[in-house]
Amino acid sequence: MHDFHHVKGELWCEDVPIREIASAAGTPLYIYSHRTLLNHFRTFDQSFAQVPHIICFAAKANSNTAILRLFAKEGGGMDIVSGGELYRALQAGADPGRIVYSGVGKRTDEIEFALTSGILMFNVESPQELRAIDECAGRMGKKAGVALRVNPDVDPQTHPHISTGLKENKFGINIETSFSEYLRARELVNLDIKGVSCHIGSQVTKMTPFIDALERLKDLIGRLRAEGINIRYLDLGGGLGITYNRETPPPPSDYANAIMEASRELNCTLIFEPGRVIVGNAGILVTKVLYTKTNEGKNFVVVDAGMNDLIRPSLYNSFHGIQSVSANVKGEIVADIVGPICESGDYLAKERKIPAFERGDLVAVMSAGAYGFAMSSNYNSRPRVAEVLVKGAGYYTIRKREEYADIIRGEEIPDFLKS
Ligand code: LLP
Repeated sequence: MHDFHHVKGELWCEDVPIREIASAAGTPLYIYSHRTLLNHFRTFDQSFAQVPHIICFAAKANSNTAILRLFAKEGGGMDIVSGGELYRALQAGADPGRIVYSGVGKRTDEIEFALTSGILMFNVESPQELRAIDECAGRMGKKAGVALRVNPDVDPQTHPHISTGLKENKFGINIETSFSEYLRARELVNLDIKGVSCHIGSQVTKMTPFIDALERLKDLIGRLRAEGINIRYLDLGGGLGITYNRETPPPPSDYANAIMEASRELNCTLIFEPGRVIVGNAGILVTKVLYTKTNEGKNFVVVDAGMNDLIRPSLYNSFHGIQSVSANVKGEIVADIVGPICESGDYLAKERKIPAFERGDLVAVMSAGAYGFAMSSNYNSRPRVAEVLVKGAGYYTIRKREEYADIIRGEEIPDFLKS
């Protein structure tokens, strides 16, 4: 599953003790395992070996250019949702012909950037966006590859904040509207209708929602083909869940077999946009205990990482495993692990049975490779942390810790305030 393991009670990543990396790079810091990233990507990719497919890594899950580069070198494409992600993908050497662009709010300059770069296709999320892309492409003398992002109205049975395929969500276009929009899109001369796309939600741990969505899309593709619309790509989005605690999501090979079975005879190149399943368990956040305290009989372990570094527990009440980095922490306590941010919601674990950490101990927050650093911020003017990639017995800084100067970069004091 992943390459964070114990050697004589001490936590290592691949062939390096976490302690060693933390003492060189400081805390808090994100550590990723190269071997795990590669294994996860290859397992997913190879599960679909029998059918034409592209694995477009969802850059939003972890957008570090070194990590994007790693997947690009494996032949991966990218799923992007902004000009910034497109910039990162290109910097990382991704093949633009394997980039898909999703998201409900693409700006004109972003559409132009994508057209100039020659991406594979836009996953279009509204009738107005379809027209905007057609206009842009016309102005630029280009043809824009498009798929409509269809909202299949299935319940992914996941956290409401990360379910996207229900009809009340802002994402996509409902199936009936999309059929008529495809017919209209056919009249727009600057568009090349390439496919159909969908994404039903994230951290999905059951197979049925994916298959239900696929069945609905198959029906749509049949109707579109009957109208002479040549659908060549079927983009099934991302969303496959991982084990944070006790979840038992289908392994990628089961997911792949079920999808390949259900999409046989469709004659489409399948596109997937996995994020979490590739990077989630390939990264951890390492933080140091600053203080321990007891308030009204409740135990708190105050660490140097806060909700600005890893917001998932605060935002979704999500579970991340907690492990001691050192073998020397004896006994257990029930405590909240909290950060230095001035908000009660600033916690990494709540009412959790954890090792009896003391001041100076290193804590590993597990499964933090997806939507960890990528969602971090400078809130409370905290410099964003370092990211390190471990490969075998070596480790490499893939993002320097920010300095104070970085956090005010771009700010200006107007002249009238200077005197
Ligand atoms: N494709 C599209 C269009 C998406 O919106 C997403 C995620 C993905 C692919 C990748 O989904 P994944 O394979 O990672 O489940 N911040 C939340 C997750 C938000 C997911 C947003 N969309 C979290 O930390 O759980």
